[in-house]
Amino acid sequence: MQQSDVITPKIQWYPGHIAKYERKLSELLKLVDVVVEVLDARLPVASVNHRLETTIRNKPTLIILNKSDLADPVQNKRWQKALAGENRRVMLYDAKGGQAKSQLIQHVLALGEASMQKLMAKGRKRRPVRVLVAGMPNVGKSTLINSIVGQKKTKTGHRAGVTRDTQWVRIHPEVELMDSPGVIPPQLDSDEAGALLATVSSIGDAAFDEEEVARFLIETIDGLYPGQLSRYFKLDDAEALSLENMALARHYKLSGDQPDLLRTAQALLTEFRHARLGRMTLEHAQHSPKEREVSEAEATSPTPEPTEPPAEI
Ligand code: G4P
Repeated sequence: MQQSDVITPKIQWYPGHIAKYERKLSELLKLVDVVVEVLDARLPVASVNHRLETTIRNKPTLIILNKSDLADPVQNKRWQKALAGENRRVMLYDAKGGQAKSQLIQHVLALGEASMQKLMAKGRKRRPVRVLVAGMPNVGKSTLINSIVGQKKTKTGHRAGVTRDTQWVRIHPEVELMDSPGVIPPQLDSDEAGALLATVSSIGDAAFDEEEVARFLIETIDGLYPGQLSRYFKLDDAEALSLENMALARHYKLSGDQPDLLRTAQALLTEFRHARLGRMTLEHAQHSPKEREVSEAEATSPTPEPTEPPAEI
């Protein structure tokens, strides 16, 4: 990899949108007892808005590491431990699979119990725990809501004192879910955070240059999963890992035999997003002291196998 090729891409994002989403989110948070915060398991740090973290996590929070089916299984486990804390539980989730609904409800009930006890201490009646699903764009909030609401959704209708368009769905006798998610605006304090979010489509394609993001992705993957991209693109040992060589290996060419870099960048991003390169996590959790003891064993276990690349895209 030639370091000089790599530029951290600049992402275009508009502060006005961020302010609007932040305001809306603070309003929604006032209505609930528990937040289900959906993160992309491939980016457990970049898909958190650290500026809003205190606001969100003032509430008991269930962190959903979603798209865990696309992320590195070793990192999934490590992040699940690392992110848990007081009033904060963590679940690995595959919203497309949607099989862990009852576990999710049990976590929500446990996290909401303190609010219910407070209500009753004030002499009020116990009511269902109210939950908001929130997260950055494209982390899988809607898919998660659909997977837990399913077909049997019972809208409890508008309620006095709540935002006019808020609807609640009873997902368990003791749990009500807000039927539309809260959008957490991406935190783009650094170009690197923006570039990471672009790799998983949390920022729309129009906001960045795909070639630059693809080069950034190549560098990031090569640092974390050395050799995997070269194997996937069938580059031989003498060939540098570059977008140009990947284009040539795929025979993606423009007229005049120039490598078609845009097509290659788009193919790489698509194939990464669908885990065709193998299940990968782009931010790795630190080893805990206990894990360090077993890290040797893990280091020798094979990295997830990539699937065969398509002949043509
Ligand atoms: P959002 O509300 O947070 O913006 O995200 P949304 O649910 O719309 O999901 C964004 C994309 O991520 C969708 O793909 C969805 O199918 C996919 N997705 C959500 N959760 C998971 C998951 O746990 N695992 C995997 N593998 N994918 C997930 P799409 O490209 O819009 O459509 P499609 O791929 O379903 O056709």
